[in-house]
Amino acid sequence: LQTLPPVQLAEKYFQIFPEERDPLWQNPCHDKRHKDIWSKEKTCDRLPRFLVIGPQKTGTTALHSFLSLHPAITSSFPSPMTFEEIQFFSGANYDNGIDWYMDFFPFPSNVSTDFMFEKSANYFDTEVAPKRAAALLPRAKILAVLINPSDRAYSWYQHQRAHQDPAALNNTFHLVVKADPSAPKDLQALQRRCLNPGTYATHLEHWLLHYQPNQLHIVDGALLRSNPALVMEGIQRFLGVTPIFNYTQALMYDDSKGFWCQRVEGGRAKCLGKSKGRKYPEMSPESRAFLAEYYREHNMELLRLLNRLGQPLPSWLRQELQSTS
Ligand code: A3P
Repeated sequence: LQTLPPVQLAEKYFQIFPEERDPLWQNPCHDKRHKDIWSKEKTCDRLPRFLVIGPQKTGTTALHSFLSLHPAITSSFPSPMTFEEIQFFSGANYDNGIDWYMDFFPFPSNVSTDFMFEKSANYFDTEVAPKRAAALLPRAKILAVLINPSDRAYSWYQHQRAHQDPAALNNTFHLVVKADPSAPKDLQALQRRCLNPGTYATHLEHWLLHYQPNQLHIVDGALLRSNPALVMEGIQRFLGVTPIFNYTQALMYDDSKGFWCQRVEGGRAKCLGKSKGRKYPEMSPESRAFLAEYYREHNMELLRLLNRLGQPLPSWLRQELQSTS
């Protein structure tokens, strides 16, 4: 057996095993050989017990803020780069390694009762995310928030307009969703970000390749918006977090915002910022009809998937399938 200096040895190794070039981080404490060489100064506990995986524009920020009110639930620290989300499993941050990831979490004060979590809404539809997440967090619970994918697409379009994306400013929503493969690249990119995350069943199947059905909880995003206390109760039961926190007292409906907000001192409402719950015109009936048709088969797939998993059907899915059948 011949050895080489570290860099050359690594180069040699990856020549022989090119499929291992991309790292796949695992919890060092899950394997005795890894644990033995893991620094004594480090811990393996600064990792989330559950993930809110998205998709974007379904109410994930509201869910994040409601979860953070719970005395036994602790969110990751906000990322200075993305303002809030860590986005570890979905992109280039993954190469920063697990120490970088763990630094976003506090040292748990009591490992058995602390529920740490992070929310990165682009995990949902990033193909590598489930495999990476399951390698590091095999026992984690996964929350996905689903709203009518047509509304999600429209909300993303409005989000991009608010962020001055020229493709969104210069094209109506209808032109975006109907753009064909000869359309300019930026328009096609916007169309993809509007439409692709909404093929829910396809993305959920990726997660189910790596997580057991009982680790996955589908949150009805429409109900989260209209009756968050009810939804939060279901989530707490799914997570097994105690004591059950009473969200009926913690939240209040704010008429001017038109959404549920946190109840703070003096009976006032503390709501999410302007970028969450934006005011914009309703989607045109033409676009709604086009998208209902576009998503019909995908929604049928979702229905079959949820039935297979024994999970309740979101109200918007029932309505959508009734109106397009
Ligand atoms: P709109 O701004 O298009 O209405 P996300 O946080 O995943 O980006 O989702 C944003 C969406 O959350 C908002 O989209 C809004 O409809 C929805 N939402 C649900 N409950 C909310 C709440 N209590 N406050 C603000 N927005 C909420």
